Amino acid sequence: MDVERLRQDFPIYSSPDRDIIYLDSACQSMRPRQVIDAINEYYMEYPACGGRSVHRLATRVSIKIEEAREKVAEFIGCSDPQCIVFTKNCTEGLNIVAKGYPFPKGAAVLTTDMEHNSNHVPWLQMHAEGMIKHRLVPTPPSGLFDLEAYKDALTADVAMVSMVHTNNVTGTTLPAKEVIELAHDRKAVVMLDGAQSAPHRPIDVEDMDVDVFCFSVHKMLGPSGVGVLYAKKELLPRIEPLLGGGGSVGMTDYESVEFLPPPERFEAGLLNYSGVIGTGAAVDYLRGVGMEELAEHEKRLNRLVSDGVKDMEALTVLDPQDPSLREGLFPFNIRGMTSHDVAMIIDEIAKVQIRSGMHCMHPFFRSRKIDGCARASFYLYNTEQECRKFVEALGHIVDTFSS
Ligand SMILES: Cc1ncc(COP(=O)(O)O)c(C=O)c1O
Repeated sequence: MDVERLRQDFPIYSSPDRDIIYLDSACQSMRPRQVIDAINEYYMEYPACGGRSVHRLATRVSIKIEEAREKVAEFIGCSDPQCIVFTKNCTEGLNIVAKGYPFPKGAAVLTTDMEHNSNHVPWLQMHAEGMIKHRLVPTPPSGLFDLEAYKDALTADVAMVSMVHTNNVTGTTLPAKEVIELAHDRKAVVMLDGAQSAPHRPIDVEDMDVDVFCFSVHKMLGPSGVGVLYAKKELLPRIEPLLGGGGSVGMTDYESVEFLPPPERFEAGLLNYSGVIGTGAAVDYLRGVGMEELAEHEKRLNRLVSDGVKDMEALTVLDPQDPSLREGLFPFNIRGMTSHDVAMIIDEIAKVQIRSGMHCMHPFFRSRKIDGCARASFYLYNTEQECRKFVEALGHIVDTFSS
């Protein structure tokens, strides 16, 4: 992977801020010119409405949207583009399924104690309304998924397993195929929150045999405000749409409505056309880079940083310690400092941008009595030199400010 060449595609690295060291891609990634151009092209050349009007501009929009759907399908190993629903983010996809799935009375939903709020709050709401019973699979201190605890929790009343594929703080990934196979043996469907997996390594939904898979495009070089909900063909028509309105229906009369088949059934109201078209460009770009190589690159950078801080006694990395189990995430704390202080100081002294706080995983931190953590996340445009500067800045902070 030629990182220096790739960096030339990202306007941020030729802006006045070109010397920033951006290590916050797990929150939101930078965007290459190819994506920005695709978005602009929509506004400059065919800024019309898709799927409704029949004139030439509208037709071009409709074609571009369906092309983007095909590209996304291919990107995640889905052979039928009609199984791809465009949402506004991962959160919306997870909510559509949580609120719209036909749970039988008394059904349980299994999550873990390491979920992002987006795969936690919808289930708390459903539980509070008496629609489901929400149960958590506990995670041991190692941070690794406990398959035995999962087997124990997978009782006959579990109708759905809804879990984070790759965790947004620890970087750990659950053994998807085993989790899915065990759930299917018990007749439960599986939804994976792919917000931190889809941007970083190859995904094959059909090979995993996962029933539902959701992710956000702004973490994978695409525009803000677009997400993807994939679900198996036989499952989608059984889910009630969260929104009703224009574009999602075939015919209505004063008393009743006939919804269109998926995916339109879930895409009520005018879509974020430029965003969806930009999504197609983002997927093209990532495929050009190669997802295997991208994953390797992130792991290499993570190893470099993890090795670099080994002798900093006041700096602790959240488990697991082995960087090869943390994909492209480096979560840490410095003794005597809040994570926000670390993030502000490192930006001030070295222009390094990292995330701090509880990362929308409040229950995880509160149950472990930790205030939060700082988190660096690596992506395709980060270099080894940037990582060495990051380590150097951490050393300076530890020497100057830690207790
Ligand atoms: C693991 C995980 N799930 C869900 C989300 C929610 O994504 P969004 O806010 O784009 O819907 C995030 C965002 O950081 C995440 O990291």
